[in-house]
Amino acid sequence: MNYLFAPQTANYESSAVRDILKVTQQGHVISFAGGLPAEDIFPLDAVKNAYEKVFASGKSSLQYGLTEGFIPLREAIQSRMQQKGISSTPDNIMLTTGSQQVIDLFSRIMLAPGDVVLTEDPTYLSALQVFRSHGAHVIAVNSDDEGMDPEDLKAKMELYNPKFVYVIPTFSNPDGKLWSKDRRDALLQLSEEHNVLILEDDPYGDIQFHPEDKIEPIAALDSDQSHVLYTSTFSKSVVPALRTGWVTGPIEVIQMMAKAKQMNDLHSSSIDQQALYYLLRDFDLNGHINRIRTVYYHRMTIMRDYLAKLGTDLFTFNEPKGGMFMWVKGNEQLDTTKLLHQAVEKGVAFVPGAPFYVQEPKLNTFRLNFSHSAPEKIELGMDRLVEVLLNPAELI
Ligand SMILES: Cc1ncc(COP(=O)(O)O)c(C=O)c1O
Repeated sequence: MNYLFAPQTANYESSAVRDILKVTQQGHVISFAGGLPAEDIFPLDAVKNAYEKVFASGKSSLQYGLTEGFIPLREAIQSRMQQKGISSTPDNIMLTTGSQQVIDLFSRIMLAPGDVVLTEDPTYLSALQVFRSHGAHVIAVNSDDEGMDPEDLKAKMELYNPKFVYVIPTFSNPDGKLWSKDRRDALLQLSEEHNVLILEDDPYGDIQFHPEDKIEPIAALDSDQSHVLYTSTFSKSVVPALRTGWVTGPIEVIQMMAKAKQMNDLHSSSIDQQALYYLLRDFDLNGHINRIRTVYYHRMTIMRDYLAKLGTDLFTFNEPKGGMFMWVKGNEQLDTTKLLHQAVEKGVAFVPGAPFYVQEPKLNTFRLNFSHSAPEKIELGMDRLVEVLLNPAELI
């Protein structure tokens, strides 16, 4: 049978990272490749209790729900976002199937083939896949350790007239970067001047290792609340299997996204949303988030200490202040895609950096996930990795 797929499917890419993960899923391999949260601290009992409360609440809990999602959960999210300085009402919060769905729904309502999206470089691979699937041209803005370079951003806004700017300013995937306040302000100001929306993707903001440092989401700085579409998720703070995220922003945008969502799936699972409501009501989520911070910080320091011992002549990295990832750069000649094969043979895996780049891939970079593996496994995996990193010569 000759399947006559629609022309836009020519833009569908399979995730290079998923393909890499297949290679790493051999039993003996310790994988720092996937972006997985720590299973050993999943709040299983709290999740179980929450679902029991849903079922105990009667048959109406099993009925169809609103496209925008279960109102009591939207109210609970409103109050949690208020604590981060983001003002919203339940009307301009929509619950989604993870943040991933926000990226797709927003792209559906904004992008026509040929439109431009500005991003960081490197950035979240699955967002790139979505933008390109809608026929968009993704253009990278020059960035440094503090965030996007305002001059380059301004020039590219003027040159390309982009539909939106996509950013992960707080503990980014893949490079763990935390934007400075100045760069957040600069992006917002340019977005106001050039009438360009910002999609702020914030799945990792809660996993802050030094909570005494004040980090304001860009959405919290947007005084007239008309320039930023903000998305976050319960995938990292509770569990990813709930597949529950949310979006807040200008009401016109949320309403248009709700129309797109209605066509897409009517609404996300309302059982999961109700369970999350009970969980937020009865479980100490902030206490749990503190536990995640402590556990991840410890795991990160183990990895950091191994990398620090390698010396900066060979490898450089920035210590992340939160999130789940470390980003490592080797010398210019190193090709980490080739190095991965050697690493897998030794029983350890990472993700080569190349697929996260928009324009010119830096082949000498790679991403390490520190959240998923227990400390003993991190030590064993890092012993293996260091051996490979110190002997990459034959692969260059
Ligand atoms: C930057 C970023 N955005 C969005 C997502 C999607 O998260 P979810 O759909 O589980 O909420 C992820 C997942 O890893 C991510 O790293």
